[in-house]
Amino acid sequence: MDPRAATTVYARWAPIYDQTFGAITQAARRAAVRKVTGPEGTRVLEVGVGTGLSLPLLPRHMKVTGVDYSAEMLAQARRRVDRMNLPHIESLRQMDARELGFADASFDRVVAMHMISVVPEPERVMREMVRVLKPGGQLIMSNHFAKKQGPLAHLSKRTAKFADRIGWHSDFDISVVLDTPGLRLLERRALPPVGMMTLLVLERSDAPTPANDPAQPRG
Ligand SMILES: C[S@@+](CC[C@H](N)C(=O)[O-])C[C@H]1O[C@@H](n2cnc3c(N)ncnc32)[C@H](O)[C@@H]1O
Repeated sequence: MDPRAATTVYARWAPIYDQTFGAITQAARRAAVRKVTGPEGTRVLEVGVGTGLSLPLLPRHMKVTGVDYSAEMLAQARRRVDRMNLPHIESLRQMDARELGFADASFDRVVAMHMISVVPEPERVMREMVRVLKPGGQLIMSNHFAKKQGPLAHLSKRTAKFADRIGWHSDFDISVVLDTPGLRLLERRALPPVGMMTLLVLERSDAPTPANDPAQPRG
């Protein structure tokens, strides 16, 4: 969606996000965070961290950095970290996901929840997330993707035209994620509510083919 629209829309969402969209998606968020595993000191980047609903759920033995474009959403995340005293959160920075200010291969895990259908130029954001992941590192995503059939497909199509007002694209195609070069699909499954969200666990590989290439080995 338009970057200016995203800024305005999320300034409006920030004070009510946790009680609305944040609450509806909390089960999916919990399921995705359970996939963030690794030893002491594992470096995690959450892109589009929003109000930081995931931050208290992320393992305390990891070192977590969160970034988001919206100053208002980030302010909520900072308040949460102070209020809950979360020592594993190393920094929260205002940043455009299209241009992550980190060196190549900086993180063991990248987490992106309910954001890839929000950002402008999602293909570029996907490439950035792969770039900052270490080879063998994992990208863990939860998102709503366009359904091909059923009542949810109908609903997604009807709400798609309101993307700039509601703050996300309800008919976002999963191929944008799976076509990204340098990723291998480890897991894909439906998440609550009512299978609306999809969990994806992807591994950074040096394979030149994207995750949805049938020639790629499955995890
Ligand atoms: C639907 S919210 C999801 C927040 C959080 N991940 C969660 O699960 O609750 C989408 C987030 O993406 C952020 N966002 C939109 N465009 C962005 C961009 N270009 N770079 C970084 N974050 C962006 C918004 O500010 C918002 O906080």
